[in-house]
Amino acid sequence: MRKKIVAGNWKMNTTLQEGVGLAKDVNEALKKVQPKCDVVICVPFTHLAPVNDVIDQSKLGLGAENCADHDKGAYTGEVSAPMVASTGATYVILGHSERRQYYGETSDTLKTKVNLALQNNLTPIFCIGEVLEQRENGTYLDVVKSQIEEALFGLSADDFSKLILAYEPVWAIGTGKTATDDQAQEMHAFIRDVIEKQYGKKVSENISILYGGSCKPSNAAGLFAKPDVDGGLIGGASLDAESFMGIVNAF
Ligand code: 13P
Repeated sequence: MRKKIVAGNWKMNTTLQEGVGLAKDVNEALKKVQPKCDVVICVPFTHLAPVNDVIDQSKLGLGAENCADHDKGAYTGEVSAPMVASTGATYVILGHSERRQYYGETSDTLKTKVNLALQNNLTPIFCIGEVLEQRENGTYLDVVKSQIEEALFGLSADDFSKLILAYEPVWAIGTGKTATDDQAQEMHAFIRDVIEKQYGKKVSENISILYGGSCKPSNAAGLFAKPDVDGGLIGGASLDAESFMGIVNAF
């Protein structure tokens, strides 16, 4: 059975003090419930080690939002996968549309990052998704298929099985306009099919595919009820412990 997961992506939000406070609040809230899913927070690099000190990682996983495409060296300002792993984090978001859009990340760079993450025992949460124009001109399935093929199909089945995928339609991110339950299900089932053709049914059935894009407590249950939606990657609503827990408890 594949895992159900709710992961927060804090993006470039919270000071260190605010972030540690938020992590503590989520950690406390998780002590009071028996979540039916794994719960993860992905936080800015500066927050990783201090957040690791205040959470119980058996209940709340910790991840970074990116890592470099080199493992060390003269790359001023970059943070490598070994550095992320050395903080105690075990997840890393890769290929987020904001990284593709604003920082020019390509499938080639992402291929390298995924390999470095895996070599350092980090679980990549790999993001894919189409922009509005591609949704409207009907190419959205092909776009997402290419994103998966280009960056990930060089992996062995064993390595591919270690990934978590996150379908995040770019038009739904931070816009308040979520994909409908059926739009999410259509894409998730399609992604599983693409994976099955490359790696077989066992791999495709076991991989967790999260939905991201304006997911909130009020729409999470409907999305998570779809058979191929295995949880969510949550932006804005993960910045408040109560709303984040509202999504966790939607399972
Ligand atoms: P929002 O939940 O703020 O739309 O962001 C989604 C996202 O980009 C998570 O990675």
